[in-house]
Amino acid sequence: MKLWARMLWALLSGPGGRRGGIPCLAFSSWQSHPPLAGLLSPIGLVSHWTRVFEKRGIPEARESSEYIVAHVLGAKTFQNLKPVLWTQPLTPQQLQCIQVLCSRRLQRVPVQYILGEWDFRGLSLKMVPPVFIPRPETEELVEWVLEEVAQRPNVVEAQGGPLILEVGCGSGAISLSLLSQLPQSQVIAVDKEEAAINLTYENAQRLRLQNRIQIIPFDVTSVGSWTHLLPWSPMDLIVSNPPYVFHHDMEQLAPEIRSYEDPVALDGGEEGMDIITRILTLAPQFLKDSGSIFLEVEPRHPELVSNWLQSHPDLCLNLVAIRRDFCGRPRFLHVQRSGP
Ligand SMILES: C[S@@+](CC[C@H](N)C(=O)[O-])C[C@H]1O[C@@H](n2cnc3c(N)ncnc32)[C@H](O)[C@@H]1O
Ligand SMILES: *[C@@H]1O[C@H](CO)[C@@H](O)[C@H](O)[C@H]1NC(C)=O
Repeated sequence: MKLWARMLWALLSGPGGRRGGIPCLAFSSWQSHPPLAGLLSPIGLVSHWTRVFEKRGIPEARESSEYIVAHVLGAKTFQNLKPVLWTQPLTPQQLQCIQVLCSRRLQRVPVQYILGEWDFRGLSLKMVPPVFIPRPETEELVEWVLEEVAQRPNVVEAQGGPLILEVGCGSGAISLSLLSQLPQSQVIAVDKEEAAINLTYENAQRLRLQNRIQIIPFDVTSVGSWTHLLPWSPMDLIVSNPPYVFHHDMEQLAPEIRSYEDPVALDGGEEGMDIITRILTLAPQFLKDSGSIFLEVEPRHPELVSNWLQSHPDLCLNLVAIRRDFCGRPRFLHVQRSGP
C-alpha cells in the first residue's frame, strides 16, 4: 500500500503527470510483456538504464537510474535497499513505473522533479517544477548562518532566538532548515513567485514548522511594496540565495536547468547583481543595528559587491567576511550593518 501511495504521489507531483503523461498505474491492467526480459531485478534495471542514459548522453547516468529504481521500491537511495532485494524480480507494475520515470529522465527532467522530493540538510522537501531545486552549496550557507548565531548567544537568550528574513525562499530549503535547527527562531520567508510561496507553505506543513514561519508574496524590485514587511521589523538577520547568474551565462546552463527550472530563480541581470543590490538597498529598513546579511553569490561577486557597497556609503553596510564553498570558490558573503 505504501509503495502504491508513493508511486502515485511521485507521478502526480512530477511534471509528466501534469502534462498528460500516462501514470504508471494505468499500465497495471496491461498485458505484461516487459521490454526488459531477463533484467527484472533492481540491479539489472540499474545497469540497463545506466547504459541507456549513457548512450543518450544523460548526465549522472548511474545516479539517476539508482535513484529512480530505489524510489519505486520505496527507498531513498539504492544503498538503502536491503541487499536481498537487489536481485529479486520486480512486479510488472514496478517495471512499468520505472520505465515511465526513466523516460522522463531521457527528456532531461531533473531527477529531483521526477522523484518529487529531495533532501536538504537532512530535511525531506517536496519538489515541484519550476521551483528552484536546492543545491548542496546552499547547505554551507545555512551552516555559516548557524555558526554565527551560535556565536551570539546573547541575541538568542535575550529574545528567544533570532528573527530572520529570507528573500527568495523557493522550496523553503533555507528557512525551514534554519527553523529546524533554531527552535526559538522565527522566519519571514518571501518570494515573488506564487509557485514558490505555495511550495514553501506545503513544505512547512510537511515538516510541522508552519507555526514559526510567515510566508509572504513579495517582489524586492517593486518600489514601495516593502512597507507591508515593516510590522515584523527589525530583524536580526537577512539570508538569501538570490538569482545571481550573469544574464549572458544563462544559455550555457545545462538543459535540465534551462528547460525545467524557473529562469526568475537564476537570472540576476547583466552582472548577476540586480536582486543582490535590491536586497542591500532594502536591508537597512529591516535590520537591527549591527544586524547581518548572508548571501550566496558567484565567484565574481565578492569584488563587485564590495565595490558597490563602497559607492553606497549611505547604506552603512560593510562586507565583513567572505567564505569559500567546498570547491574552494568564494561564494558566500557576510554583510553587516554598522550604524543607524
Ligand atoms: C536561487 S532561488 C533560491 C531558492 C531557495 N532559497 C534555495 O536556496 O533553494 C532564488 C529565488 O528567488 C526568487 N526571486 C527572484 N526574484 C525575486 C524578487 N524580485 N523578489 C523576491 N523573490 C525573488 C525566485 O522566485 C527563487 O525562488
Ligand atoms: C497556489 O495555491 C493556490 C491555493 O491553493 C492555488 O489556487 C494556486 O493555483 C497555486 N498557484 C500555483 C502557481 O501553483
